[in-house]
Amino acid sequence: MRIDIITCLPKLLDSFFAHSILQRAQQGGYVEVVVHDLRDYTLDKHRRVDDYAFGGGAGMVMQIEPIARCIRTLQADRTYDEIIYMTPDGERLNQKTTNTLSLRENLIILCGHYKGVDERVRELFITKEISIGDYVLSGGELAACVLSDAIIRLLPGVLNDETSALTDSFQDNLLAPPVYTRPAEFEGHRIPDILLSGHEAKIDEWRHEQALERTRTRRPDLLEE
Ligand code: 6GU
Repeated sequence: MRIDIITCLPKLLDSFFAHSILQRAQQGGYVEVVVHDLRDYTLDKHRRVDDYAFGGGAGMVMQIEPIARCIRTLQADRTYDEIIYMTPDGERLNQKTTNTLSLRENLIILCGHYKGVDERVRELFITKEISIGDYVLSGGELAACVLSDAIIRLLPGVLNDETSALTDSFQDNLLAPPVYTRPAEFEGHRIPDILLSGHEAKIDEWRHEQALERTRTRRPDLLEE
């Protein structure tokens, strides 16, 4: 898989992808993440990528020309399955969308900033608009990191058995059950006896019940889906 991220704050993204699982996924050849500085695609001598909104009002708007130039440059080399715009008014991200996107070959992620992008960018280039929740961030960069992380960890080979994505919360619309490690007793607080029983089938059953109970009390909306 290849993910091209377009941003006016490339440094913010570089450090994120240079660590941990995301770094290993790239070094292992499972994914190639390329961050593009939108300012490299402006013809303006001050490298500006935004301008005042037509009709007035507070806030700058990201211009279409640098974005168009960047996307078309990328499209000259490969065909993209989706061109995603990170925006608070996009469809809210969930595990299903993440699973679907993890099956794609080439993705572009455009990070919004200021008051957003010129509407014509959305009409002419964007195939999918994604929000990561009902709150407003100062830019789409963090959201692009969240989306990329959620996708990349699903790519076959990126996680080992122990961290397998199959047992994640949400993969079956259930929250994850509680987990424990040594010591078996801490200041009088013991772990559930069942986990020490060695009874694999019963432990599985217990975990499933716990997952159900947790989902019922914390996120009943998931069970209705
Ligand atoms: Cl994708 N962008 C911004 N700026 N804020 C957000 C968001 C995206 N998702 C939730 N809040």
